[in-house]
Amino acid sequence: MKKGSNVLIGVSASIAIYKALEVISLLKKRDISIKVAMTKEATGFISPVVFEALTNSRVYVDVLEEFDNKDDTNITHIALAKWADVFAVVPATSNIIAKLANGFSDDAVSLVALATDAEKIVAPAMNSNMYTHKATQENLKKLEAFGYSIIEPVDGNLACNTKGIGHIADVEDIAFFIESKLYDKPLSGKKIVITAGPTNEAVDPVRYITNRSSGKMGYAVAKMAYFMGADVTLISGPTHLRQPYGIKIVKTESAVDMLEAVKNEIKNEKEAVLIMAAAVADFKPKHYADKKIKKQDLDSSMVIELKENPDLTKTVNMFAKDNNVDLFTIGFAAETNDLIKNAAAKIQKKGLKFIVANDVSRGDIGFNTDENEVSIIHADGEIEKLEKMHKESVAYEILRRIEA
Ligand SMILES: Cc1cc2nc3c(=O)[nH]c(=O)nc-3n(C[C@H](O)[C@H](O)[C@H](O)COP(=O)(O)O)c2cc1C
Repeated sequence: MKKGSNVLIGVSASIAIYKALEVISLLKKRDISIKVAMTKEATGFISPVVFEALTNSRVYVDVLEEFDNKDDTNITHIALAKWADVFAVVPATSNIIAKLANGFSDDAVSLVALATDAEKIVAPAMNSNMYTHKATQENLKKLEAFGYSIIEPVDGNLACNTKGIGHIADVEDIAFFIESKLYDKPLSGKKIVITAGPTNEAVDPVRYITNRSSGKMGYAVAKMAYFMGADVTLISGPTHLRQPYGIKIVKTESAVDMLEAVKNEIKNEKEAVLIMAAAVADFKPKHYADKKIKKQDLDSSMVIELKENPDLTKTVNMFAKDNNVDLFTIGFAAETNDLIKNAAAKIQKKGLKFIVANDVSRGDIGFNTDENEVSIIHADGEIEKLEKMHKESVAYEILRRIEA
């Protein structure tokens, strides 16, 4: 689970400084304790008061002034260095990057950086020429060699009225990456393939048959698996969800697309975990009209004949056997009635290790909600009823049973 929840944000004097406020707001929503250290130059851009108000904690700027030499245990930068589980410089100027790469310690940010054992991250933000300059690139390489993670800047609008590389990474991505570093990595070295979302089964070029799956459950599993150190591939049907940072995503439309994507993802593996959280259509239109079906060409009614889609889980398990892939498959069952009975029947039929059964007849859980109340049904008949919880907690409960 979480190895800590203390994040120290180091703030330096970039025009992107306001993004640090956004990152802190996002982290606060995730129940993470946050403290801030700023360079003196940064305080000329935004007052420390703003960060103090946002974090309910004092901001460290002048380490000498704050040092209380009556109490040895109160050496500010050492206490701060010990407190932090993750230390992230957001935004990181070329100057602070150079200092960190060369062991300088003449400001609160670089001083704590040198003193802490925390996971270290920098999110560079600067003009393109400054970013691509050999000096900056060499310094970033050095930081990587020291164990820092770099959240690469992106191509975008820069403060100097130009466009190019150097625009700070997206705040959602920065917050996501920082949070990921707060977790233990028990799934490190494991390949986990997760399907998520609905499928679209095309009727003609503009119409399709789909279902109410939002993809939230599968995306939550992908996120937690990534946080827990797995090598994750998310095979996603069409959803409106944000693509999670650092996770390989394969976008698919139909059930057949999804099947091919899963096969492709596991075919070269010796072993893999497959978590089938997608709501795959059982049927698809028997005939696809390659031109839009016109109302005037129909009578007052329209009949769409359907044919069965392949059963993804069963087909993939057979494919895995044929290709000598040791597959640990977990299924999901969305049922509106006889939940446990219907879910249990699927375990043997589809070759699952266990199945996660959820009741989609309830409006407060299941499709398109943030919470879920599931039962985990094992192949030996054991049924574990979990209480109602956030989908990320359900994801964690599922993933920790992979080890068992
Ligand atoms: C308006 C303004 C915006 C700046 N934006 C950046 C920036 O985005 N990235 C950067 O590396 N330096 C930027 N600088 C230059 C730094 O502020 C300068 O190098 C400063 O000494 C960095 O101090 P620090 O790294 O101790 O915070 C900017 C300067 C000004 C005046």
